[in-house]
Amino acid sequence: MLHIENLSAGYGDMAVLHEIGLDVGPNEVVGVLGCNGAGKTTLVKAIMGLLPRVNGDMRFHGRPITGLRTHAIARLGIGLVPQGRWIFPRLTVRENLVMGTQAAGGGAILDEVFEYFPILKSRLAQPGGTLSGGEQQVLAIARALCGRPRLLLLDEPSDGVQPNLVELIGEVIPTLCRRSQLAVLLVEQNLDLVLRSARRCIVLKNGRLAHAGPVEPSGGTADSHPLARYLSPAMEQDVPPKPATHSHHELT
Ligand SMILES: Nc1ncnc2c1ncn2[C@@H]1O[C@H](COP(=O)(O)OP(=O)(O)OP(=O)(O)O)[C@@H](O)[C@H]1O
Ligand SMILES: [Mg+2]
Repeated sequence: MLHIENLSAGYGDMAVLHEIGLDVGPNEVVGVLGCNGAGKTTLVKAIMGLLPRVNGDMRFHGRPITGLRTHAIARLGIGLVPQGRWIFPRLTVRENLVMGTQAAGGGAILDEVFEYFPILKSRLAQPGGTLSGGEQQVLAIARALCGRPRLLLLDEPSDGVQPNLVELIGEVIPTLCRRSQLAVLLVEQNLDLVLRSARRCIVLKNGRLAHAGPVEPSGGTADSHPLARYLSPAMEQDVPPKPATHSHHELT
């Protein structure tokens, strides 16, 4: 449903993404991994029409979306949960969800969101800003779902979120994709969440594709998974690991 070919994008004169290719099929969860500054958010912004400088071919259900305005892209059925959440803190939980329905041209709050995220039901009258960080993330996801997207872009949903809610998000994402007509592009540095939700992933490094392929289930912990090496700081800076003889004591 989403097809990206040869995408380059950046800010002003600075090129950030180079020759990115990516496909997301219906009902699929595709992970986007990469260290800080790898270009993950830039990719999401490029898809959503939030960057002035974008080159390449991006199609959604066969329709070109490169150069379209953000609201037009949203109307086609792409929803974004931005990094850092961006809920409306002074609006109540209910009002935040009603705002979310706008992407679908208005209408009722999607009942399913309370099924997936029961914690929201008892908080409907509460200002969004009084929720915990993790609850705000859940609200941001639920708000995006109320816009009835076909493709949901989730930018680091585990960032600053308490473990029990990361777990809940990790359960809800694949369930949503199985039960609803929804696909998810899951941007994460939390490998565990990607291993549990996604069947395919890409890895970005310095704005380029470093890897693309299936996500094999983890035999042990996420740390020992072959994909973990793409998220280590040594990989990020391309520095060889410190010699093993350098103990912590010698450095202090
Ligand atoms: N508004 C901006 N103006 C100029 N440069 C930017 C802007 N936003 C990001 N960049 C640069 O683009 C590069 C990629 O940033 P991006 O935010 O896409 O990384 P990321 O993979 O999302 O990182 P993180 O995991 O920390 O969110 C970085 O070098 C960053 O400094
Ligand atoms: Mg980011």
